[in-house]
Amino acid sequence: MVKLALSLPSICTQPIPLLKQKMNHSITMSQEQTASLLANAFFCTFPRRNAKMKSEYSSYPDINFNRLFEGRSPRKPEKLKTLFCYFRRVTEKKPTGLVTFTRQCLQEFPEWERSQKKMPRLHVTYEGTIESNGQGMLQVDFANRFVGGGVTGAGLVQEEIRFLINPELIVSRLITEVLDHNECLIITGTEQYSEYTGYAETYQWARSHEDDTPRDEWQRRCTEIVAIDAFHFRRFLDQFTPEKIRRELNKAYCGFSRPGVPPHHLPAVATGNWGCGAFGGDSRLKALIQILAAAEAGRDVVYFTFGDAELMRDIYNMHTFLIERGQVVGDVYKLLLRYYNEECRCCSTSRPEVKLYSFIYNVVESYINATDDEKLCFDD
Ligand code: APR
Repeated sequence: MVKLALSLPSICTQPIPLLKQKMNHSITMSQEQTASLLANAFFCTFPRRNAKMKSEYSSYPDINFNRLFEGRSPRKPEKLKTLFCYFRRVTEKKPTGLVTFTRQCLQEFPEWERSQKKMPRLHVTYEGTIESNGQGMLQVDFANRFVGGGVTGAGLVQEEIRFLINPELIVSRLITEVLDHNECLIITGTEQYSEYTGYAETYQWARSHEDDTPRDEWQRRCTEIVAIDAFHFRRFLDQFTPEKIRRELNKAYCGFSRPGVPPHHLPAVATGNWGCGAFGGDSRLKALIQILAAAEAGRDVVYFTFGDAELMRDIYNMHTFLIERGQVVGDVYKLLLRYYNEECRCCSTSRPEVKLYSFIYNVVESYINATDDEKLCFDD
């Protein structure tokens, strides 16, 4: 590892550009370069990256690993075991592939209320995980706006775990400025080096993993991961306001859309309860939001409910119902706005009495059965 770190000047002969806010830019580097950068991060050799106060890099995530060596949390040794597995692998056998980091910043977004796009196809399952069962699909990283979140600290949920088992993702922390609401980070080509068991407090490094994902013509593993940061809702009801619904729709759309690529070439999105753990979101709302965003991006959805069979049934039934009733993106978007106006806006309790999906079933059913005159007042 020392040799790998010291070889940086000969491996990275140019200063590495930064992916700053408002940039649409890609940086491709070799897996060998990422390994040397990560060995330097392990030895905390990056200067001016640890300043706590406002400094030139305060709008970038931490990169040095010093916080992994402090404290007595039982999580740290398991995180370090996962990283040492990576370092052992890349020092024993030099990796030969490339990895691309792309910052995507969109200025134009769909007019959600007028969209006539149909619902995408959906496969929803309570078994499996994005990384194990999402091969060949666009795999969502439930990110922090400082990409990687607490991976170099105490964090150990979906994003941190993904950054530990695919450690080349951690290099994005060196170059990616904090994400704005209309931005995402796409990382293509990272390799999985470890397998794990458990989650959060029960996370444990399990074993080394031989990644057999095929490589593309650029010698990148065909693994495309997109980091999109959900909004962190401290009050449950806040997520139903029109402004926040639009923020989450646009963020997911930015992560899923590939301007210039014909939609039929785009694989499905492999996602799940994005923003519904540490960030306090409602899974049923976020599932709908991601389905609408995928519809606008021209992609199908594979949704992992992470063991929640009831959630799987609810999402499956809702998706089937919307298709059977011919509801398009604009219809569902207006239903979300109605739900806020009728059930949340004047709600004095922490949670609305009527749940979102019950509201949608009732409104759509009563519209279908309404007379023409009654329908006119619905449309107002
Ligand atoms: N595959 C599919 N679903 C998963 C997986 C996985 N590998 N891991 C977790 N989930 C589900 C769980 O149900 C979890 O509660 O996703 C939910 C949300 O996961 P979180 O990581 O809590 O995501 P979020 O709520 O968006 O919080 C993001 O946490 O990891 C940090 O850096 C991240 O600060 C950011 C925050």
